Amino acid sequence: MTVFFRPCGDILKAPAPRTDLDRHLYTVISEHIGVEITVDAGVDYEDWVEPVCMLEQAIHLGLEIKVLPAAHLRRAVMNPLYVIPGKACRDILIGRQQKSDPYEMPFFDLGWPAACDSKANHYAELETFHRHAGRKLALADMPGDRAAAGDRKVVFGQGLTSTALGTAMASLAPGDVIVKQVYPGKALPLLTYTLDKDFDASKGQGMFFEDVEFHFARYEGDPASLLVQEKVTMTHETRFFVVGGKVITGAACIESHTPMDDIHWDTTLPPVWEITRNSGEMDTRDRMDRKRTALKMWQYAWQVAEEIAREAPGLDAYVLDVALDAQGEPLVIELNPVASSGLYANNTILLMDAIVAYAENAPHREVESWNPDDFVGDEGPMSPTPIQAFALSTFDTCSLDGEDDEIAGAGNLISDDLFED
Ligand SMILES: Nc1ncnc2c1ncn2[C@@H]1O[C@H](COP(=O)(O)OP(=O)(O)OP(=O)(O)O)[C@@H](O)[C@H]1O
Ligand SMILES: [Mg+2]
Repeated sequence: MTVFFRPCGDILKAPAPRTDLDRHLYTVISEHIGVEITVDAGVDYEDWVEPVCMLEQAIHLGLEIKVLPAAHLRRAVMNPLYVIPGKACRDILIGRQQKSDPYEMPFFDLGWPAACDSKANHYAELETFHRHAGRKLALADMPGDRAAAGDRKVVFGQGLTSTALGTAMASLAPGDVIVKQVYPGKALPLLTYTLDKDFDASKGQGMFFEDVEFHFARYEGDPASLLVQEKVTMTHETRFFVVGGKVITGAACIESHTPMDDIHWDTTLPPVWEITRNSGEMDTRDRMDRKRTALKMWQYAWQVAEEIAREAPGLDAYVLDVALDAQGEPLVIELNPVASSGLYANNTILLMDAIVAYAENAPHREVESWNPDDFVGDEGPMSPTPIQAFALSTFDTCSLDGEDDEIAGAGNLISDDLFED
């Protein structure tokens, strides 16, 4: 059994290297796949390097690896681009996700991505999230006819406590509020509204419609799909990877950073931050002060992970995004699925170790039968069901959380529906 690796784009075309370490990385990968990697200045650095850092760790662990083409998973694994020989392990899929993956997963007994991967999208249902949000929150229904809503099931907690959008907004007025569509995730950019003291609930829906127009109709009446939040100060945004319920590694949410920005094997959280995300303004305090901040955030991430483990034992692999509030106290921004989350400068040595251990211990999954011979070569019967055919043709690219890619929310919806157990 094997590590399946999907690069972002063409693995043979690397971005312009930033350091000698990058050149060394390209050489290591070239040697193992047996084909030379060339530099193409048009390739996006973070997109290409992040997954390749995971590949490098799989190579260091001496595991058998198949580098996959950008095809649907069954076809891809039957027609790998390169095979790196090594030790057998539980089947693991790392690297870039494809929108077709949720349809292909049932054909594989994968130890990773975690079976609970997409459950993190339901974070707004967790009481632990509400306790640790550090801001006032209210869940609201997507406007429109409730009868038109999909049959969303509650994943965590007792149920979905939500109100009409205007009522939720009024409960946070006056002040700035942020409306985020949390279900399905990434369907809509965050919307900010300044509510005055005279704001009344009847205005809320109209303000929302002005921004989203017909978008709402797609999710009409979905219960608790909007998270209305008080806008608060968030600094030092940091992403932690929690695997097997344990906080494994963390790093600041700095768009230009990749695991190549901190290659020390034992760094759990580099004390390097942008004060406000995407501002470019760095925290220039003394290193000892920054290390104290790192320690505080690390301990906080563990506290939250332990509370999530108690509340939702089935959710044991996720990404936890944390920030500091105006008083410098930590709060939880959101949770995301690991498999579709950007790495920033997270430690891929620790992360890959944790993933392999998780996969080896993961319960085996029932798989749907398929005939491998049907998937050898370029052509062949994929025979997708009609809904699969729709989804495969519509959502064949994928976006990473925390990155600027175009968002395909319905892909997440379909992913939720089919991928969760
Ligand atoms: N309540 C809030 N108050 C202030 N800023 C917020 C609030 N909620 C979110 N933000 C800011 O907006 C950013 C995006 O929010 P969030 O991560 O919840 O949404 P997202 O859909 O995952 O977006 P992205 O993919 O950009 O991370 C956060 O990283 C934070 O900077
Ligand atoms: Mg985010």
